[in-house]
Amino acid sequence: MKKKTVGIITSVILGVGMLGIFIGLNPIIQNLSFACTLTEGNPQGPYYIPEAPYKEKLGQSLEGQKLIISGQVLDQNCDPIPTAIIDIWQTDSNGNYNFEDFTLRGKIKADEHGQYKFETIFPGKYSEAGVMRPAHIHVKVSAPGLLTHTTQLYFEGDEHYDFFVKPSLILKLDEKDGIRYSEFNFVIFAP
Ligand SMILES: [Fe+2]
Repeated sequence: MKKKTVGIITSVILGVGMLGIFIGLNPIIQNLSFACTLTEGNPQGPYYIPEAPYKEKLGQSLEGQKLIISGQVLDQNCDPIPTAIIDIWQTDSNGNYNFEDFTLRGKIKADEHGQYKFETIFPGKYSEAGVMRPAHIHVKVSAPGLLTHTTQLYFEGDEHYDFFVKPSLILKLDEKDGIRYSEFNFVIFAP
């Protein structure tokens, strides 16, 4: 075999090998890079309104099953982000967004340990482009000096999981005395 041909074959084998190693290791590196895995993102969608007021109880005047979500805002080292702000918006129990007021829109401040808690009603579903979206709550997590992280929270047992749903964004639900409870920790990158 000619020296040039051997060289080309060797280069191809090395190239394919390195590509295989990179593809194989990449997910591992992503998972091992940080002590806490970053929360996966999701599109903002068209229904966000900025400047929502600070409040920890949303939709109190509306009919619907009460839902309480709590957790922590952490960075990639699992350290709390005490100055984090969680900006949420969602539909009412009939799947409608309200644009006249901020009934189901609000910002929640994390405490000095990065812990947050808010009370709302379980969101209803709506059809978008002929496809039923699962029940979800939109979220923007921010903190001074950090990039805003936009995502959506979903709930276990939904029959309408669509293209945007990621397993890590599906919340487990507990129920007691007619109130649903869920916990979720947001992990955002802090350089
Ligand atoms: Fe939505």
